[in-house]
Amino acid sequence: MFTTQVYVQRREALKAKIKNGIILFLGNEESPMNYPDNPYPFRQHSSFLYYFGIDRPSVVATIDLDNQQETIFGDELSMDEIVWMGNQASIKEQAEKVGIYEVLPSVKLYTFLREAIASGRDIHFLPPYRPENKIKLLRLLNIRPDQFALKSSEELLKAVISQREIKEKDEITELEKAINWSVDMHVEAMKYAKPGMKEADVMARIAQVVLERQGQPSFPIIATVHGEILHNHHYGNTLKRGQLFLLDAGAETPRHYAGDLTSTFPVSKNFSRKQKEIYQLVLNAHYATANMLKPGIEFRQVHMHACRVIFEGLKELGITKGNTEEAIAEGAHALFFPTGLGHMMGLDVHDMEDLGELNVGYNPGESKSSLFGLKSLRLAKKLLPGHVLTIEPGIYFIPELIKLWKADKKFENFINYKNLKSYMNFGGVRIEQDYLITKRSNRLLGRKKPMEIDEIEKLRQ
Ligand code: GLY
Ligand code: MN
Ligand code: MN
Repeated sequence: MFTTQVYVQRREALKAKIKNGIILFLGNEESPMNYPDNPYPFRQHSSFLYYFGIDRPSVVATIDLDNQQETIFGDELSMDEIVWMGNQASIKEQAEKVGIYEVLPSVKLYTFLREAIASGRDIHFLPPYRPENKIKLLRLLNIRPDQFALKSSEELLKAVISQREIKEKDEITELEKAINWSVDMHVEAMKYAKPGMKEADVMARIAQVVLERQGQPSFPIIATVHGEILHNHHYGNTLKRGQLFLLDAGAETPRHYAGDLTSTFPVSKNFSRKQKEIYQLVLNAHYATANMLKPGIEFRQVHMHACRVIFEGLKELGITKGNTEEAIAEGAHALFFPTGLGHMMGLDVHDMEDLGELNVGYNPGESKSSLFGLKSLRLAKKLLPGHVLTIEPGIYFIPELIKLWKADKKFENFINYKNLKSYMNFGGVRIEQDYLITKRSNRLLGRKKPMEIDEIEKLRQ
């Protein structure tokens, strides 16, 4: 938890943005893996954590704007639960630490909300993403799940996004801690991975780096010799000399702030010539786009510049051809770079994605392109000081996609398919770091991880 004042101020700022009614924040429930007593590790709802800090399941908070009353609803542990889990700080104690002095048993929530509905008061809630909370809302507010998007409060949604997207000083410190832990994970992998190991060996080793600090990975680790598979959660391949290893992994601190880094390094001690060429190109795209980050710039422009650098670089290697601006406008580069350049990061690795990609990542009124490549752009809007985001350009040689486009003669004016033959087993390269938008430009968060070819090769010896 942060200090009491942090939570009090966050709620004051929120209250100033919502006119009247009741704000309802549902914390998360335990989520069963295969039966109720065997749950996944508990993860609190990030907006609940942001305003109320209480990191335990089955609590709900309300802010009654008309009566200036903040309440936590939840049930203190029964003796049976204490026998099972041990005694813990009471909800009352935890609530006081975040400046809330009314704690009521959860049965009272139903009557409180029913009375509010009967008197025609507005109840503001965020769109739920967990089934348990969808059922809770159905029961409490009598709103069917297919109506949640419509009936959740746009006023609240906008207020929460506008607040959470601008990181406070304490949050930046916490994010840097998460990123520094993430750097430790990556350096460990670069030192540890050896030909003959399984991907799972590397994954387990770097998970240990965060687990032993009482953190956890901020998302399922991607540790693979098939970096061209964008979200590869398989760890069964054996590392072989001559392959590239892609590691996309980040730490989540005990306060639940995330880091998100990607490194690509050779399984052998050195990159091959071909690997160096592609790696250096992705690195150039990384630096070129990171250098553009500043308040006022639209992130879509930064993304398009990554597409440009990648397409131009591949042209020098004989893989692409033709007019770059036309090619990227039509989406030819997406054969190699089908993802977005980055996303917001904070309490969630893709920050606030539960509140909607368009709401979080796009300017008001903007819609998302349906073009392959651009449809995966999570962040497109104008950047502001205090935004924290990732830059993660990549080049991927996806054999199935290359074969399909080739058979369809797609973009033959922009792609030299015959020169792609020798890249079919290449894999993929992604290089990801996390940045803060400052008053005038940007700052790399956390310490710099090894990214230059010679730095990586040195670690691989
Ligand atoms: N780790 C997922 C991502 O980079 O967005
Ligand atoms: Mn990322
Ligand atoms: Mn990542």
